[in-house]
Amino acid sequence: MSFQNKTVIITGGASGMGRLSAECYAAEGANVVLADINEQALIALCDSINEKGQGRAIYSLCDVRKYPEVKATADLAIETFGSIDILLNFAGGFELRMCNCDKPFPDTPVEVFDWGIDVNLKGPFYFAHAVCPQMVKQHSGVIVNLGSVTGEEGSGAGMAYPSAKAGIMNGLTKSIAQFGFAHNIRCVCVSPGPVMTRPAMANMKTGLGRAAEVREVVDFIMYLTSDKASAITGSNHFIDCGRIAMPRP
Ligand SMILES: NC(=O)c1ccc[n+]([C@@H]2O[C@H](COP(=O)([O-])OP(=O)(O)OC[C@H]3O[C@@H](n4cnc5c(N)ncnc54)[C@H](O)[C@@H]3O)[C@@H](O)[C@H]2O)c1
Repeated sequence: MSFQNKTVIITGGASGMGRLSAECYAAEGANVVLADINEQALIALCDSINEKGQGRAIYSLCDVRKYPEVKATADLAIETFGSIDILLNFAGGFELRMCNCDKPFPDTPVEVFDWGIDVNLKGPFYFAHAVCPQMVKQHSGVIVNLGSVTGEEGSGAGMAYPSAKAGIMNGLTKSIAQFGFAHNIRCVCVSPGPVMTRPAMANMKTGLGRAAEVREVVDFIMYLTSDKASAITGSNHFIDCGRIAMPRP
């Protein structure tokens, strides 16, 4: 799976799965464009990747909720590297955690739901829209959206997250894939169960009795974005240590 000279835009690239993806794609020769709101972490990660002298790393300070910043990120990728080959839509999070809200559904301020929908659903939508013209021009490209088992299961609290993830896993991924058929652009969704980006994820129940390692998810995404997976598009893929398959009480 060579990614030599491929250009990969990674939203949420400053942390977690996005961060490890940046390191792994660059180690395989890709040029990475990291889009995130955490500038300090972005600078440190770009420096560390560029010191290694494999693929190059640049960053764009970008809030995925703001279309002009999303468009500027796509433009920066084209100006710097001349192509956009892969888009990884990692930026996201559970709105109650990200907005420090511990209120039950009826008392949750609507601004918290807005954050959950805007970052988790509109962000991937905006980024797909911004990169598609270049992918059409190239007649190639792969877009990976990040769903979640919560999009399948729902959640009695923090309802924007499961709603947004369900939208990505079905409507958005299939719709982008359908648009992409004629342009050799693939779109897939990867939907993790618990992943060890935070120690607390080890407490979620799964069939295998453990959370996935970050590297396991990144390896799967690298496969899906490689030429080996050229027959795969429009589909959602759980990587959840068997959580969805567990017998229900
Ligand atoms: N970790 C898990 O167990 C798990 C499980 C299922 C799904 N997911 C999904 O996988 C993706 C990555 O998860 P992670 O745990 O690696 O995330 P993380 O929390 O480690 O990183 C998320 C990144 O997104 C960035 N971000 C937040 N808001 C942003 C905005 N408005 N604009 C741009 N960047 C923004 C943050 O700064 C951070 O760097 C998310 O979409 C998440 O919902 C994670």
